[in-house]
Amino acid sequence: MRTTPLHRDFGVEVHDVSLKEITATQGYDELRRLFEEHSLLLFRDQDLSDEAQLEFGALFGPLEDRHDRPKPEISPVANLDAAGAVIASDADTHVKNLRANFLWHTDSTFLPVPALVNVLQARILPNQGGETELVSTRAGFARLSTDLQQRLRNTVFRHRYAHSRAKIDPELAKQALFTKWTDQEWKAVWRNPRTGTESLYIASHVCAVSGMDEAEGLAFVDELVDAMTVPEAIYSHVWRPNDVLVWDERATLHRGRAWPYEQARKLVSCCVSLQARDGLEDMRAHI
Ligand code: OGA
Ligand code: MN
Repeated sequence: MRTTPLHRDFGVEVHDVSLKEITATQGYDELRRLFEEHSLLLFRDQDLSDEAQLEFGALFGPLEDRHDRPKPEISPVANLDAAGAVIASDADTHVKNLRANFLWHTDSTFLPVPALVNVLQARILPNQGGETELVSTRAGFARLSTDLQQRLRNTVFRHRYAHSRAKIDPELAKQALFTKWTDQEWKAVWRNPRTGTESLYIASHVCAVSGMDEAEGLAFVDELVDAMTVPEAIYSHVWRPNDVLVWDERATLHRGRAWPYEQARKLVSCCVSLQARDGLEDMRAHI
């Protein structure tokens, strides 16, 4: 597969591939190698149906479903109501929740089984803003001093969904979806079992750090996120309709950027859960 780099640190665009034609025996192994190595893959001009996007996602592992439905469904990331009308007010709960995506984060770290990958496709785009930005926390970890790296190898982060929502609005954080799971504790450094590389596993959901009091821990998390997200480390994706981004949640941080809310923006996402072969069991820890 022909690839071109997206950023000095990580990411490739994969050319001449139709994701509809990728199956477990046709093309997946090569894509998976690219995914493990580059952490972020871009495919243009895909136009996958919801079904086809879910099928492609399922090649990576079990589809995530936060709502315990009989069958996992695609998740819209959009300022649209159930009838498809634009929600222009940023006081709306749904839009507030979207704004929590503007904090640097990793998806699903607050779940008992977090995500390996997010497959995100652009459907409707505003005429300005609405980029999705990513950094490599593998490159970011490598930039830290060896002393700090060693300290982080012995550090555990506690993750809580409501913690990131409370940063936007304490009332939002009280909703059932954000208090549904108990806190999860994960080691701060993910060692990729296939490549042996290490990355920082951190998110806006981190609410406590082993060996530190609350304020000290949160200040440490902010410092680390700042170190990961210096301007030159950021890949900013300017979406075109039918673009598909696929990223490795173990080795990246991402955030959305604002757009004029009177304009519609609709992305569709499916996440895939981590498995033991992805290094999950080695990450379980206790503060
Ligand atoms: C997500 C996400 C950011 C965006 O789908 O997990 O964080 O740009 N999206 O919408
Ligand atoms: Mn996200």
